[in-house]
Amino acid sequence: MEKQLKAIIFDLDGVITDTAEYHFLAWQTLSEELGIPFTRQFNEELKGISRMESLEKILALSRKQNEFTEKEKENLAARKNSLYCRLIEKITPKDILPGISEFIAASKLHNIKIGLASVSKNAFTVMRRLELLNEFDTIVDAKTIKNGKPDPEIFMRAAEQLGVNPVNCIGIEDAEAGVTAIKAAGMFAVGIGDQQRLAQADLIYHVTTELRFDEILNAFVKKLNQ
Ligand code: BG6
Ligand code: MG
Repeated sequence: MEKQLKAIIFDLDGVITDTAEYHFLAWQTLSEELGIPFTRQFNEELKGISRMESLEKILALSRKQNEFTEKEKENLAARKNSLYCRLIEKITPKDILPGISEFIAASKLHNIKIGLASVSKNAFTVMRRLELLNEFDTIVDAKTIKNGKPDPEIFMRAAEQLGVNPVNCIGIEDAEAGVTAIKAAGMFAVGIGDQQRLAQADLIYHVTTELRFDEILNAFVKKLNQ
């Protein structure tokens, strides 16, 4: 097995741009409309989770999951998405989180392939607005996978499309479900966010400005040689 870093696979929402906050705001509005108490703390459990699964979790909060037909649930999910789409309308390259462009540039300088693994059906729209579509060697979104995070499928697929063995990949995530998916895929995990929540990650940073290519590479090499 070659002990070398070959690819870095990024999550989108909450890692490349702050759309995790827009998902939160859209779910908060929908929850208010339904009379369901919704907190920032609970929202952490929705990070990295698909739209329909998130809705089921919110309805379950107030034991309302059996009050709606499948068609009504689809309408609720569509309502959330239209609230979210309104929020992402104004996204520009200025909304790339600080430190991310520099980190991508450093990775490319080292000939590392760059992939995206996002369960969002809006991933291409957001990436286009950020003008990042052509920067990435591959993009895997909700349309091409059967199982969402924490299943490793999306990270495995990205590695496969990049032609790289998962053991030679690093995954970067802000969601607990995402870090679980990266580890289950057999990759090195970098978490962005809360130390305790992302404890499974191999390396954790509070915010994207702290990302350092050399430091991450060193930690990756050290781990692989353990
Ligand atoms: C993930 C977000 O990236 O995408 C989740 O972390 C979101 O919060 C999921 O629910 C699905 O997004 P969308 O855009 O398909 O509703
Ligand atoms: Mg995320």
